[in-house]
Amino acid sequence: MHIAGKPYRTIWPSATDHAIIKIIDQRHLPHRFVIEELRTVAKVCTSIRDMHVRGAGLIGATAGFGMHLAALTAPEPDFAAFMQQAANDLVQTRPTASNLAWAVNRQLVAIEQEKSIAAKRARAFVVACEIADEDAEFCRRIGEHGKEIIAALSRKKNGAVVNILTHCNAGWLAFVDYGSATAPIYAAHAAGIPVHVWVDETRPWLQGAKLTAWELKEEGVPHTLIADNTGGHLMQHGLVDMVIVGTDRTTRCGDVANKIGTYLKALAAHDNGVPFYVALPSSTFDWAIRDGLGEIPIEQRSGREITHIKGLNEAAEMTTIAIAPPNTSTLNYGFDVTPARLITGLISERGVMKASEEDILRLYPEKK
Ligand code: MRU
Repeated sequence: MHIAGKPYRTIWPSATDHAIIKIIDQRHLPHRFVIEELRTVAKVCTSIRDMHVRGAGLIGATAGFGMHLAALTAPEPDFAAFMQQAANDLVQTRPTASNLAWAVNRQLVAIEQEKSIAAKRARAFVVACEIADEDAEFCRRIGEHGKEIIAALSRKKNGAVVNILTHCNAGWLAFVDYGSATAPIYAAHAAGIPVHVWVDETRPWLQGAKLTAWELKEEGVPHTLIADNTGGHLMQHGLVDMVIVGTDRTTRCGDVANKIGTYLKALAAHDNGVPFYVALPSSTFDWAIRDGLGEIPIEQRSGREITHIKGLNEAAEMTTIAIAPPNTSTLNYGFDVTPARLITGLISERGVMKASEEDILRLYPEKK
């Protein structure tokens, strides 16, 4: 997608040195555009854990490049042990997004197939690039499928603006390009369908206020930032035509883990007859599990994300301020689970399906 009119991906290898992986450090957005260079798997782990990069697809792509950097530095006599340790370290950085373990396992399987260390190193780079390219292409296709849903709503409204609510950032910043929830929006906007996006601010990390609002602005998509608790009120007044969110892990029966607060939006949408869609590339399915509530690990993060807030002060300096009394007890779950029964449909690179095992397997018969 674009920043000041210039096309970017969220992660890419340096054109002159593949031992350098470049990322957009998202901690500084929307105020500063900072590109960070990653040269070791340890730095990659830090970048995922501390959310220089975040979002399920991008976490997976970054882990793929992390395995490439690990392969470059792994000592020849202990190559396999070093790679396994790198894989373990990467998988432990964040627990909820299934794309992380998926990308690391894809690398381990590919590396195992090669005989020489040189071939293993070469393959790890190829696979990292494949993971990134596939993520971008799958999100582009999600956009094409989801655009048809928005087009149908637009026809139903005789061409009036389609109002779409989204939570968190499942935009291109959460993937390598296009995004999952935003891909249908970008595709509809590019096709001339009038759309407007309600952007949940998404406490406590504020992915909506910091990232979704910024990327929609860069792409020229009309949008309005709202406080997290506003969506239900808008739905009661007929101001939301559909909800599209992303997901960090989706069970084979269609339960979805997404940013904390998604469940409440799904409940409000259900109560008001507003279609609730979840967009995902297939790397976000966890085919091994059925019950989202019982089986998806939910990340807990530092309470400081709730008690403190970071932004620009009036002198345009990045500042962190306290907003709660000192030593306030906190509980900071990163995600919640929306049960399949509240979901109108899942939009993946293969098309639109109901959130049920039967319909998911219709599009993914190889997972039966
Ligand atoms: O904690 P984050 O920013 O990595 O979480 C990202 C989300 O939960 C988003 O809502 C997104 O829908 C899933 S990632 C595409």
